[in-house]
Amino acid sequence: MKKITKAVFPVAGMGSRFLPATKATAKEMLPVVDKPLIQYAVEEAVAAGITDMVFITGRNKRAIEDHFDKAYELEATLETQGKAELLRVVQSVVPKQVNCIYIRQSQPLGLGHAVLCAKPVVQDEPFAVILADDLIDGEPSIIKQMVDVFARYQCSVLGVQDVPREHTKQYGIVSSGNLEKDVERVHGIVEKPKPEVAPSTLAVVGRYILTPRIFHHLENIKPGAGGEIQLTDGIAALIHEEQLLAYRFNGTRYDCGSKLGYLQAQVAYGLKHEELRADFAAYLKSL
Ligand code: G1P
Repeated sequence: MKKITKAVFPVAGMGSRFLPATKATAKEMLPVVDKPLIQYAVEEAVAAGITDMVFITGRNKRAIEDHFDKAYELEATLETQGKAELLRVVQSVVPKQVNCIYIRQSQPLGLGHAVLCAKPVVQDEPFAVILADDLIDGEPSIIKQMVDVFARYQCSVLGVQDVPREHTKQYGIVSSGNLEKDVERVHGIVEKPKPEVAPSTLAVVGRYILTPRIFHHLENIKPGAGGEIQLTDGIAALIHEEQLLAYRFNGTRYDCGSKLGYLQAQVAYGLKHEELRADFAAYLKSL
């Protein structure tokens, strides 16, 4: 039985939809209430028992490395000031058992290329891929739910949800047949099809468990949609060799790659936040 111990976080994207906020910093560092998106993604992986976090970074992403590193000066200052609770918050960003590994993707050649950059670290093991701008609130964590599906079937698993047909051109879309409750066997997958040709409305939303065979296909596929090496195309090639499943996760997804989704996440997480909940709800009501 194989276990998932590694998660890959492609974080090299430019974040152009959030300019100017992302001019000098990473879009994955944008906070939802008080935590950056990338920390939610790492916490989701930790909750699934994953210990090795592999970040595929690029220019302007140094804040991510700093965020998951020890902050000596800050910790010393908080300690001197007796701010024990804040010190605990800062120190618990990365649990002790977690390793953070950084790989630079020097050219923006696409999501598939970013995942391929993780090959020297992941090697011959199945692994998770988490796109931090898809923030998904669920209990247990979405990747934990998918790791549980992987444990039963020992094959690649895609996190999916139904989307309105007019949105298919924003996603990888699968064609599938039902296997058991919430689990589909995938027969095909296409990247960003137009609504009129989309094989279904079941969309992949930023969570993948992949077998290492994916690297072979990512090395061999040609640039696809948008001239990029697409992860979706590598997965499509994998279907001819291995079983591939799609899992309808149990949770609420916020598309924090879009301004509207990001604002929705702020509201939802604000209303869940222990300190803010009551005041924020009262404020929203007053509007
Ligand atoms: C990427 C993938 C796409 C997937 C989506 C989920 O697209 O290429 O298959 O459905 O993430 O968010 P992007 O949003 O990077 O254009």
